[in-house]
Amino acid sequence: MSKVTVVGAGNVGATCANVLAFKKIADEVIMLDVKEGVAEGKAMDMNQTAQLLEFSSRIKGVTNDYAATANSDVVVITSGIPRKPGMTREELIGVNAGIVKSVAENILKYSPNAILVIISNPMDTMTYLASKVTGLPKHRIVGMGGALDSSRFKYYLSEALGVNPTEVEGMVIGGHGDTTMIPVARLATYKGIPVSDLLSKEALDKVVADTMVGGATLTGLLGTSAWYAPGAAGAAVVESIIHDQKKVVPCCVSLEGEYGQNDICIGVPVVLGKNGWEKIIDLKLTAEEKEKFEASASAVRKTNNVLKEINAI
Ligand code: 2OP
Repeated sequence: MSKVTVVGAGNVGATCANVLAFKKIADEVIMLDVKEGVAEGKAMDMNQTAQLLEFSSRIKGVTNDYAATANSDVVVITSGIPRKPGMTREELIGVNAGIVKSVAENILKYSPNAILVIISNPMDTMTYLASKVTGLPKHRIVGMGGALDSSRFKYYLSEALGVNPTEVEGMVIGGHGDTTMIPVARLATYKGIPVSDLLSKEALDKVVADTMVGGATLTGLLGTSAWYAPGAAGAAVVESIIHDQKKVVPCCVSLEGEYGQNDICIGVPVVLGKNGWEKIIDLKLTAEEKEKFEASASAVRKTNNVLKEINAI
């Protein structure tokens, strides 16, 4: 019996819980929220789709009842405020740091062995915060940003190529920010063929640019941040962990010398399995990509430093 808790029953958390149940990724899904009745109501609504969608997973919603989350295998943290049009993810740090810290501490009281998947923004800094305040072994803390950004990258690539997104490979590394993420166009392929052989430089540059502002574009359209792809990306990360799929997914993890970085959580390709992230794939980056990665790490570090300024760590 696998049990997954999703903390935060807002748009992203509820979508993640829904995908976890619908795709039968977890047998039991607990959704916890601070707003009275919201998680309960959304869980009830989802459970009423079980017969229609043919799943047997059970979803339970609770208001602030951490005891109900006990012995979760994986806990997805989505809590916090989303960004409004024109805001960067980094501007959310003041409010979200306090929330993520208290959620992580409460969760571990009841699920000391859980693997934490961090979605709350600014995602790289919230992952770093979770690793600092919990002191968990590094493999048990995974930020999902790269999974989402890579999915957006593959979508834009498939649109430019006019092909099925599932036939496209591509990854986004670095920070989960409009200017910090690095879609690695050089390594993107369609059925093993480098996309640079199939698309003009202008078309590929546009795919990269659209990917980087993927979240901001949606925030502009929706008036709040996106949820279908972020929720599904969180669920995909959980799936590879719970089912020990050993998928290679770019995720935000703690680096200790890899990619020339220390004391930072940032996006790199990792193997996801039952122990959390099990291995970092050390890509041979070109000089230009390396330079971008270093700039991305500096930007993430700058946001991490705010945690100290506000006494969150
Ligand atoms: C996004 O990029 C919510 O950060 C998330 O849409």
